[in-house]
Amino acid sequence: MHRDATPRRYLMCPPAHFRVSYSINPWMDPAKPVDLQLAQTQWEDLRDRYRALGHTVELLDARPGLPDMVFAANGATVVDGRVLGARFAYAERAAEAEAHLEWFRGHGFTEVHEPSHINEGEGDFAVTAGWLLAGRGFRSSPLSHDEAQEFFGRPVIGLDLVDPRYYHLDTALCVLDGDEIMYYPDAFSPGSRAVLRRLFPDALIASSADAAALGLNAVSDGRHVLLPQAATGLFGPLRDRGFEPIGMDLGELLKGGGSVKCCTQELRPAV
Ligand code: ARG
Repeated sequence: MHRDATPRRYLMCPPAHFRVSYSINPWMDPAKPVDLQLAQTQWEDLRDRYRALGHTVELLDARPGLPDMVFAANGATVVDGRVLGARFAYAERAAEAEAHLEWFRGHGFTEVHEPSHINEGEGDFAVTAGWLLAGRGFRSSPLSHDEAQEFFGRPVIGLDLVDPRYYHLDTALCVLDGDEIMYYPDAFSPGSRAVLRRLFPDALIASSADAAALGLNAVSDGRHVLLPQAATGLFGPLRDRGFEPIGMDLGELLKGGGSVKCCTQELRPAV
């Protein structure tokens, strides 16, 4: 099957102040040192790779005291040029929401909604052609799902996350193209698994090893799929479907519990 990439616009934030000084997910161990220089180089590789593929990368300034700000996907959800701001579950990240809102207001986005309910942006919202998939269980409030549905006017499918290692939807599920996804079933409750099977019967199913390498924390432009290079089991199945997997090393950022997708917020234009 032939796959076409479409040019995307992404928002990223350099890991200038990245560190693991607290633990809000099982990947984070403040006792493990982080090599900041290496984190910066790995992040730059990702940014440069997007640009080499013809995508636009916008930059948000990192702020001191917000060590997780590099995980820009959590700062908002942008669909049809409309911006649903974030509201973080943990106080440690709360101030990131305002930094994102300021960026959008300063960059010509006029439809910006400050949320009433906790949602961690694209960490828990994934956009397919037909649906807005929405995770809950660890971070985003179920009430944020209705708020998103009302704001975007897209049908929301709520999905229950049950494994603390996969605390955000984007650690367990990735939209590849249109209504095509890949995911790790065991991260979801039995009912949510059944919903996913029903909506996406042809989905690519990830193994526990590939999920544990955070292989689902990936970004697709419709053809190229950038994903953690250690998720080797996903490369063949992606190629079989006509995608071009591109392995990235974001090992330092993995110490914060994030990888490719977490570092990348997609700015979806009005069509
Ligand atoms: N340390 C961050 C947190 O736990 C990692 C966020 C990863 N981002 C993501 N989109 N999954 O909040």
